[in-house]
Amino acid sequence: MEVIIKETYEHASAEAARIVARRVREKPDCVLGLATGSTPLGLYKELVRMHKSEGLDFSKVTTFNLDEYVGLPKEHPQSYFNYMQTNFFAHINVKQSNIHIPNGMAQNIPSHCEDYERSIETVGGIDLQVLGLGVDGHIGFNEPTSSLSSQTRIKTLTQATIAANARFFESENKVPRHVITMGVGTIYKSKHCLILASGANKSHAVKMTVEGPVTAMVPGSALQLHAKCTVVVDDAAASELSLRDYYLWTYRNKPDWQRV
Ligand code: F6R
Repeated sequence: MEVIIKETYEHASAEAARIVARRVREKPDCVLGLATGSTPLGLYKELVRMHKSEGLDFSKVTTFNLDEYVGLPKEHPQSYFNYMQTNFFAHINVKQSNIHIPNGMAQNIPSHCEDYERSIETVGGIDLQVLGLGVDGHIGFNEPTSSLSSQTRIKTLTQATIAANARFFESENKVPRHVITMGVGTIYKSKHCLILASGANKSHAVKMTVEGPVTAMVPGSALQLHAKCTVVVDDAAASELSLRDYYLWTYRNKPDWQRV
C-alpha cells in the first residue's frame, strides 16, 4: 500500500481530489467507484470546485456506488442516492444514466446484486474505487468476518456501525439494519483502490488496515494484497502507524512520474 499523510482533513481531501481528477483527465470515460459517509465530503467539494473553475469534465464518466440502505426509497433524506445527488452529482456534469447505486427497494435483492456485479463487468470494471474506512476496519459495508472474496450482497450492519451512523438519523432505531454492499472481492477487482480516513477515531482502523495482518476481522486489510492501493490520511488518522516517518519520506522523494 502507498500511504500518503497530509496535515489536515482539507489537505487530505485535496490530495484525494488530485488523484481522482488525474484519472478523469487521463481517461475521460473512466469508471469511478464511489463512497458515502463523512469522509469523502471534502473530496466531493473539491471535485465540484475543479469542475466549476477548471472545467474538470465528468460527461463520459460512469460511477458505481459501494452501498445503499435496504428499505430506504431514493428520495429518503438519508438514502445514499440522495447523499450522492446532494453532495456531488447535482453539481457536476455526470450523465444520470451513467450513475449506478444499489437499489435499497429492490424486490428481489439477490438477483439485483447479481445484476449490479454484471453491470460493473459490462463496463470493463472499476478504474478507481474511493473507499472510506469504518472504525472497525470495514470497507463498503463489509463488516468484520466478511469473506475476503465476497461479491455484492445484503449484509446486516453491526450494532457499532448502526450507532456510528445514528448521527444522520432521528434516532438509532431509525437506522436500517441491512444494506446492499459491494463485496470485498468486488472492491478488490478495481484497478486502483483509494482509501481515505481522517480523525483520531480512525487511527486504529488505519493501523490495522495498513500494518496489521491480512484478516477478515479487518476487511480493509485485504487490500494489502492489491497491486495498487493508495491510502490518504490526515495526521490524526496516521498517529498509530509504526512506519509513519517512512511513508512521509517516500512521498517526499517520489519522482513526479511515479505519483498516482
Ligand atoms: C460508505 C461506506 C462506509 C463508510 C465508512 C466510514 O459508502 O461504504 O464504508 O465509508 O463507514 O464512514 P465515515 O466516512 O462516515 O466515517
